[in-house]
Amino acid sequence: MKKITLFVLLALTSVAACADEISQYQDESRAVAMPFLKKLGAANQKAVSEGGPDSATGVCRDIAPQMAGELSRQTGWKLTRVSLKVRNPLLGTADAWEQKNLQAFEARAAKGEKPETLEVAEIVQEPAGKSFRFMKAIPLQQGCVVCHGATEQIPDSVKASLTKEYPHDQATGYSVGQIRGAVSIKRPL
Ligand code: HEC
Repeated sequence: MKKITLFVLLALTSVAACADEISQYQDESRAVAMPFLKKLGAANQKAVSEGGPDSATGVCRDIAPQMAGELSRQTGWKLTRVSLKVRNPLLGTADAWEQKNLQAFEARAAKGEKPETLEVAEIVQEPAGKSFRFMKAIPLQQGCVVCHGATEQIPDSVKASLTKEYPHDQATGYSVGQIRGAVSIKRPL
């Protein structure tokens, strides 16, 4: 009897410790993901309003991967932007865990959760070891519509360069508030 109680206590303690660990990692991930998204949103807004949609391409194409690369090097975590409908398959394609959770984000949004609050955090075991995984949804903002919105919202000049540079582009047809993708963090443990 005593043994069973002890076992249950130990099991509960380890569940609690694990939950604490996850929420600590989640806070730390959010502290990296939020400024990244804020800076990108602001840079995009500034570029679209100052130079117009054509000159803003650099924010998503150059600044975002560069910032993600710097943050990955500094933290030792893999930080990327992923989506279920990508423009750049090399950088944007979601892996199995990300696909499953992006779909879950869609389902949660459909049930009324606000896209800007959608997050998931989990410790996963893979062949090469354990890691902490985190994703935060990226809702489409007004300043994104000129390049990711419906066909009629995208200026002809942008359409022409997208067709040329990304002939397999899937990342259009979004409206404001829809989930464009997510920032994803994978932290080896
Ligand atoms: C001026 C055009 C333009 C604007 C405005 C723009 N994007 Fe992009 N976006 C792109 C291009 C081009 C890529 C592909 C970048 C690459 O080659 O890696 C891209 C890629 C992405 C990706 C990576 C996944 C994928 O599809 O490859 C995300 C996420 C994304 N954009 C979100 C946003 C959000 C959110 C906004 C608004 C804050 C925004 N974009 C505004 C042009 C734009």
